Amino acid sequence: MTPQQASRKIRDLCALAPVIPVLVVRDAGRARPLAEALIAGGLPVLEVTLRTPAALDAIAEMARVEGAIVGAGTLIAPSDVAAAAAAGARFGVSPGSSDALLAAAEGAGLPLLPGAATATEAMRLLERGYDMQKFFPAEAAGGVAALRAIGGPLPRIGFCPTGGIGPDNAVDYLSLPNVPCVGGSWVAPSAPIEAGDWGAIEALARAGALMRR
Ligand code: 3PG
Repeated sequence: MTPQQASRKIRDLCALAPVIPVLVVRDAGRARPLAEALIAGGLPVLEVTLRTPAALDAIAEMARVEGAIVGAGTLIAPSDVAAAAAAGARFGVSPGSSDALLAAAEGAGLPLLPGAATATEAMRLLERGYDMQKFFPAEAAGGVAALRAIGGPLPRIGFCPTGGIGPDNAVDYLSLPNVPCVGGSWVAPSAPIEAGDWGAIEALARAGALMRR
C-alpha cells in the first residue's frame, strides 16, 4: 500500500466519526462490551494501544464486533506492525515515525496514521506521501495554536491530534480546517471499563460523536 493510499484510507475513517477512542485494554474479556458500547454511542473507529499484554487479544476480539473498525496504536517497531496486522487490525497509529516503521506498514498493507509534532516532521512525512498525520502530543506540542500555524504553510496535511484532548478542547481542534478528527482516551476511562459500566462509556461516546466539525 502506498503512503497516499494509506492517508486516503485514514481520511475515510476520520469521516465516519469526529473522535477516535484511544483505548488501553487490560483485560481482553472486556474488549467486546467496550467496543459495543463505543459503537452504540456512535464511535465505530477504535484504536487499541499496544501498551498492555492484552492488547493484541483485545484487537482480535473487537475485530469480530459488528460495525467495529479496529486499529492498533502505539506502533513503534516493524514487529508491532506485523503483530497488529495478524491480530486483525485494519489500520495503525504511531506516536512518531521511523523509516523502518513506515516501510513495514507499507509492506504489510496496513494503513498508517504516523505521528508528527513539528513542521519538519510533517514535511518529511508529506514528502513520502503521507498527507494525513497524527499530531502528537497535541497539547504539549502547542495545541490548537500550533496546528493552526502549521496549517498556514502546509494546508494539504490533515491532522488527527491526540494527547491531552478532552471534552473541553476537542471542539476547538475540530473547528480547524486541517483537523477532520481527534483521538483521545477520555471517552473510555479506566474506571468505567473496570466497573463494567458500559452505559457510562456509551454516554461519553455519544457526546463525542455529536461534536461538531
Ligand atoms: C495517544 O496514545 O494517542 C495519546 O496518549 C492519547 O492521549 P490522551 O490519553 O491524553 O487522550
